[in-house]
Amino acid sequence: MGFKIGLLGLGTVGTGVGEIFANPKGRHPLLQELEIAKVGVRSLEKARSLNLPTEVLTTDLNAIVNDPTIDMVVEVIGGLEPARSLILEAIAQGKHVVTANKAVIARFGEEIFQAATQAGVYVMIEAAVAGGIPVIQPLKESLGANRIHTLIGILNGTTNYILTKMQQSGAAFDDVLAEAQELGYAEADPTADVDGLDAGDKIAILASLAFGGRIDLEQVHREGIRQVSAADINYAKNLGFVIKLLAIAKVPPTTAELPPPQLEARVHPTLVPVDHPLANVNDVYNALLIEANPLGQVMFFGPGAGAGPTASAVVADLINIAALLKTGIVANDPESSRIHPLLACSHQ
Ligand code: HSE
Repeated sequence: MGFKIGLLGLGTVGTGVGEIFANPKGRHPLLQELEIAKVGVRSLEKARSLNLPTEVLTTDLNAIVNDPTIDMVVEVIGGLEPARSLILEAIAQGKHVVTANKAVIARFGEEIFQAATQAGVYVMIEAAVAGGIPVIQPLKESLGANRIHTLIGILNGTTNYILTKMQQSGAAFDDVLAEAQELGYAEADPTADVDGLDAGDKIAILASLAFGGRIDLEQVHREGIRQVSAADINYAKNLGFVIKLLAIAKVPPTTAELPPPQLEARVHPTLVPVDHPLANVNDVYNALLIEANPLGQVMFFGPGAGAGPTASAVVADLINIAALLKTGIVANDPESSRIHPLLACSHQ
């Protein structure tokens, strides 16, 4: 049994996904059963590094989500609209969805997962937070025995890249931002990166998974790195600190209620002691430090943005859905909390 994929978007991440499919050998065997059947692009004229048959490409994204032959839709166009509407339409048409879109999930996750429950389809979001680092799946499953009380992350690759370069070479903010854009790390509008909005969306999603229930973005204090100067970085260095844009979510360690009555969520530049594990997370790397009971501390670390890492998470979700479908686990199985990550804990 094979599965046909409709890929919405052929930018940095979409191209990364296409490259994995173009060279499936040595990867998960289920990749052989997945086929990119349609790709939605903005222009058919644009020159592309990926060699796709012309009949696969279309500018009609609605046609893809309404195509009865498509089983799974991958949304990697980013932004709120038309991404949200396309995701909802794909779900309404009975298609499983994989998205890297943290902005949509942080704002409309509840609507999307409710629609998915009704339609009996999977929506998977591993690529939405921390690029290639598996953080969603561990929070949903592997750490399920724990009461999680603290999340501290470096969740934006662009700002971490900028801060690292400013620290290492005294480079100017604007020059390093341009480099990060060229490398495909930054959002289409880098304001989302620089002003802490992207990291705010990501910590809201993680907090929602870790602590249960929907996190209102208004609850997340967000401050970016525009005000961080070379002088600040130097002062910090002389005092034994580095400056990192941290995303933090905490509940009282003793809380047993889900969702917890008190939640603190914030993103801001922070002085991190040089010997702290997060101080050495550099360049485009992200990290997430989780404190939980009874586990204690666990840290995830890896590339947090860019074509390959983000595509790695997208394709992992596709493989995961294919594996579930092949083993006959239906998406509306109420016993399976895998399906509704942002709603899973709110029923407890
Ligand atoms: N612009 C994001 C970042 C991309 O720099 O982390 C990955 O979500």
